[in-house]
Amino acid sequence: MTEAIRITRATALKPKPRDAELGFGQLFTDHMFIADFQEEKGWYDPRVEPYGPLPLDPAAAVLHYAQAIFDGLKAFRGVDGKVRLFRPQKHVERMNNSARRMCIPPLDPGLALQSIVTLVGIERDWVPKTIGTSLYVRPTIIASEAFLGVRPAKSYIYFIILSPVGAYYPEGMAPVKIRVEERYVRAVEGGLGGAKTGANYAASLMAGEEAKHGGYTQVLWLDGVHRKYLDEVGTMNIMVRIADEVVTPPLTGTILPGVTRDSALHLMRKWGLKVTERQISIDDVVHAHNRGALKEVWGTGTAAVISPVGELAYKGERMVINDGKIGSLTQRLYDAIVGIQYGQLPDPDGWAVEV
Ligand SMILES: Cc1ncc(COP(=O)(O)O)c(C=O)c1O
Repeated sequence: MTEAIRITRATALKPKPRDAELGFGQLFTDHMFIADFQEEKGWYDPRVEPYGPLPLDPAAAVLHYAQAIFDGLKAFRGVDGKVRLFRPQKHVERMNNSARRMCIPPLDPGLALQSIVTLVGIERDWVPKTIGTSLYVRPTIIASEAFLGVRPAKSYIYFIILSPVGAYYPEGMAPVKIRVEERYVRAVEGGLGGAKTGANYAASLMAGEEAKHGGYTQVLWLDGVHRKYLDEVGTMNIMVRIADEVVTPPLTGTILPGVTRDSALHLMRKWGLKVTERQISIDDVVHAHNRGALKEVWGTGTAAVISPVGELAYKGERMVINDGKIGSLTQRLYDAIVGIQYGQLPDPDGWAVEV
């Protein structure tokens, strides 16, 4: 797809919300990006159009066999007024890895980046100003071929929609209560866990609902085979600090390779901390807690950046971590990443891409 992006402007623009009214994922901007794929043409007709419904045949493969992928990243308005995307190349790379796993034809990485930058550029007035708020970018690919046989589709739609979102912590970062999931599993080795595909989120809904009814924010997923090793926390990667070592599960295909995870690991290594990517069992976490060595637990993800875990519930026992308060390393990571996102701190690794 080497064509230039065709732009059709909306004739009437929507009113923009005030920053204080913003939630997550409820409002969408005036335009969207679309490109089509057909087997004989490849990806073609990249365009920006007024936001609106997609024409989709009821037999479209995505509606029956869930052949689809997506990604999620954010654009931030810095303290200097500039709009920056956080590590968009890394998100494009992950999107193409998810696509390959789902037998979806990957996008040209240059065009995928250009599609995001072009759309965010057109919608830059939608990027909210208050620190903590952002413009969420949701690139998605769906199988659009009208065919009910089970095989990879021959036609696809790639689209990007944008949603202004409020601060994840309007009252400041707050530790959450997490239930260790013993009944349901999210992914197994060899499965889809490492791809950002809707099926993983469908698989997670029941556990999340039951945790919420029990008074917890989310679940901590254990591995699907032994029900023993830590996988992820809700839709975030997990990190635990035991004494002076930070441990996080390795990328073996069951967990999503988080961009925030990668950023946090990079920063901690640069700070000279001991960081290990290895399997860690829930029993090791319990033992560390019992001997007073479980210092901090946090999740990493685009939505919250860093989310401190104040309490873990497992087999009817409650483990309160760091007195339910935010740990020092948790706070340091949050401040470092948010500082780069809003242009408040130097960006030595070139993570922020100006729009
Ligand atoms: C299942 C899952 N794990 C981890 C993450 C964190 O990834 P990232 O840091 O790239 O947002 C996400 C969110 O994208 C996710 O959906």
